[in-house]
Amino acid sequence: MNPAQLDERNINARDIEELIGALSDLEVDGIIEHKPSQCASKGPVSEELLEEEDLMKEEKPSVSAEQVAAIRAAWSRRPEDERVCYDPLARHFLGPELGGVIDDPKLTETVAAAVEESTPGAIGCVGARTRYIDDYLKTCIDDGIEQLVILGAGYDSRPYRFSEMKGNVRVFELDQPATQREKIEILKMILGSTPEHVVYVPINFDKESIADRLYASGFNRDLKTLFIWEGVTMYITAEAVDATLGFVAENSGKGSSIIFNYILQSVVDGTYRTEDAEKMRQSYAQRGEPLIFGIPEGAIDAFLSERGFCNVKDVNGEFFRSAYFKGKIASTNVCCLCGFVTASVKPN
Ligand SMILES: C[S@@+](CC[C@H](N)C(=O)[O-])C[C@H]1O[C@@H](n2cnc3c(N)ncnc32)[C@H](O)[C@@H]1O
Repeated sequence: MNPAQLDERNINARDIEELIGALSDLEVDGIIEHKPSQCASKGPVSEELLEEEDLMKEEKPSVSAEQVAAIRAAWSRRPEDERVCYDPLARHFLGPELGGVIDDPKLTETVAAAVEESTPGAIGCVGARTRYIDDYLKTCIDDGIEQLVILGAGYDSRPYRFSEMKGNVRVFELDQPATQREKIEILKMILGSTPEHVVYVPINFDKESIADRLYASGFNRDLKTLFIWEGVTMYITAEAVDATLGFVAENSGKGSSIIFNYILQSVVDGTYRTEDAEKMRQSYAQRGEPLIFGIPEGAIDAFLSERGFCNVKDVNGEFFRSAYFKGKIASTNVCCLCGFVTASVKPN
């Protein structure tokens, strides 16, 4: 990294740190005996920190939502044969600082190198996660989903990129109010208005009931529904995770499913004692969005089965590498510490 080059463009170390923080949605592999009670651990995060975090969530748009949008924007600026995902709307959601980085290819390269040095494989992993969920959504649309619920939507642009959903699939976007307000303003600027098939549901998952908020917004439990829960579970309490999964399992029509990612509990509670894991915990906490929830490694099948799901499929960076990184991007480093899961709601 060349600090003079960054200063010239009004970019400082904090901006770099924030982009690096986007890597925090990564997960780690290992074998740990599964016990449901372990999943309820908040690790070493204090009540005071949680309260502080809640206040920040309520008052200002999510930093991490902008950071992951920046990574998607960076991938999307590349030529077709050099990118893993394509989200042409992502750039619109960036503020002047991260937007300035993405608009300058040299600066993007400089920042990406710094991110790669700090948390190897993260940019590849976040790009691949977008692609993986896009691919899954496409399959579900082809299979005739009637509702899409995006939990912790942030700047997810799928409702606007997948135009085939218009008129066929009702979309519910749930997020904390400040981020959602910001997103709606930006959407009005770029699209003129928000589309009729999208319903915005402001919520704090830690304090409010998804059922109350969704039913008040017109959600129909009899419809075949896909739930996307990308980059969120690590930010909310175990009770909120259980409440969300419980809602999905008990309030979805035949053929419904969920796709989400999670972080290892040992990373959250600090017992995964590596420098990378400690860095990850610190970077979440420093930007006001501390790691709160994790699932013990190797436990995802049992965890979801106990909560009303079946057909659990869990993939990581190894899968992404062989599925998506070919040709000119074959040498991309992809973090193998991430886990992404799809699961069907068990039939009644
Ligand atoms: C890393 S961002 C992911 C955004 C989006 N899913 C994506 O992948 O681009 C995490 C999102 O979770 C939301 N979030 C975190 N905690 C929340 C809570 N307690 N209630 C509602 N939303 C929350 C944030 O506002 C943010 O949009």
